[in-house]
Amino acid sequence: MTTTAILSALLEEQQGLLEQLTNPVQLTRAGRDFWRGELHGHRVVLGLSRVGKVAAATTATTLIEAFGVNRIVFTGVAGGVGPGVQVGDVVVATEFVQHDMDASPIFPRYQIPLYDRSRFACDEALSAILLEAVHAGLTGAGSHFEQNKWHASASVHSGLIASGDRFVSGASESRVLQEALQAGGFIPLAVEMEGAAVAQVCFDYGVPFAAMRTISDRADDQAHVDFPQFVTEVARHYAQAIIGQFLQLLPKK
Ligand code: ADE
Repeated sequence: MTTTAILSALLEEQQGLLEQLTNPVQLTRAGRDFWRGELHGHRVVLGLSRVGKVAAATTATTLIEAFGVNRIVFTGVAGGVGPGVQVGDVVVATEFVQHDMDASPIFPRYQIPLYDRSRFACDEALSAILLEAVHAGLTGAGSHFEQNKWHASASVHSGLIASGDRFVSGASESRVLQEALQAGGFIPLAVEMEGAAVAQVCFDYGVPFAAMRTISDRADDQAHVDFPQFVTEVARHYAQAIIGQFLQLLPKK
């Protein structure tokens, strides 16, 4: 049977899934906590990457090398930067770019040196299942979404996500970042701090990867207030509803 890794940066983003895990076994590797068990008839490993690209790369590598996972799915929150990407919406990644990678003038800005690429694509089949799960999870999620102020107008987006070692928390900072990306041909829907690193590790190992991010803030002057509130109160319900649907849609092999 294949093993699916479900990865989040913070415990708050994954608490709901952890509570549903059957036959859980807690393991520590590389100073991180992992839980092996079953969810919706699938063998899974839940992992916490912590924050930032290096921490996420270490966690993804551990999941592959120490736990032998066959696919990785990331669930977490992000700052919305694309037009119409609002707090409470969900973005399913099609590909990732590192917005803080800059080895110019030796390599073009955003290109990962010696990889000859700046974009890492998500697995198409896995992402299609995740997208379906987001739609199903949002409509069938019940009271948690109806009770909060965000879900009433939640939209689902699919596209590029930009990752970097920076919490983007200012309208002008966000604008500068987006203008530079746009000049390089990149128009991201959201910014976060881990996805591109996990995508690169999965590319290296040939492990299918998919990612979804719920929008916790708009990466603007209000982001530092919106983010913690959303992470504490809302994120786990999205992860629980959507990943639950995802695992039910995922073929059992
Ligand atoms: N994750 C959630 N919101 C974010 C932001 N504004 N910047 C970076 N990562 C985030």
